[in-house]
Parts: sequence; C-alpha cells; structure tokens
Amino acid sequence: MSDWVWAARLANVAEDRANIVAVGAMTIALYRLGNSIRATSSHCPHEGECLDSGFVENGTVECALHYAVFEIATGRLISGPTTGPLPVYPARIEGDDVYVDLTP
Ligand code: FES
Repeated sequence: MSDWVWAARLANVAEDRANIVAVGAMTIALYRLGNSIRATSSHCPHEGECLDSGFVENGTVECALHYAVFEIATGRLISGPTTGPLPVYPARIEGDDVYVDLTP
C-alpha cells in the first residue's frame, strides 16, 4: 500500500546534487534529474556518509568518503567498497511540490 507524503517544494530541489530533506522522522536525498525527481536514502550504505557532499553526474551519485557509485534511479551499486544497494523510494512531482512514498 502506498503512502505519499509531502517532501519539498520543487523549486528547492537543486539539479545535479543530493538535496537532503527531512520527511517525518527520516531524512532522504532528493535529486532533480532533468524533468524527473528521484529519492534515495540520505546516507551511504557503506559506512553511513551523508550524500549531501556526494558528486551527482549522469544519473549516478558518488559517495564522497570512499567513492562508492550508485545509480540514482535504482540504487544499484556500480562500483565501490560496499556490496549493498542504496535504498530508493518512489517520488513524484505534483504541481510545485514533491511527494515521496517511504512505505517499506
Ligand atoms: S561511506 Fe560511502 S563509500 Fe564508504
């Protein structure tokens, strides 16, 4: 069952970076990739580095601590010192706002 919740104003989601926002008790990262919006965990699954200092390029985010690279749309690990994926969450744009579904 989905549970869409408001996450941010679209105007506050900068392109080409991980935008860290609080949604309830969680923090997540929002990415504006062209006309689409994506959401992932705000922290790297390797050793927990916050992705706000990560490098976003060509639909991927690179953790700034040990350089794990993840595909933003799927969370798939592309390279780096960890084995797990980056958790991802459904996200959508509705008017001027961004909504996410954090349902496990
Ligand atoms: S904490 Fe991100 S790669 Fe190690």
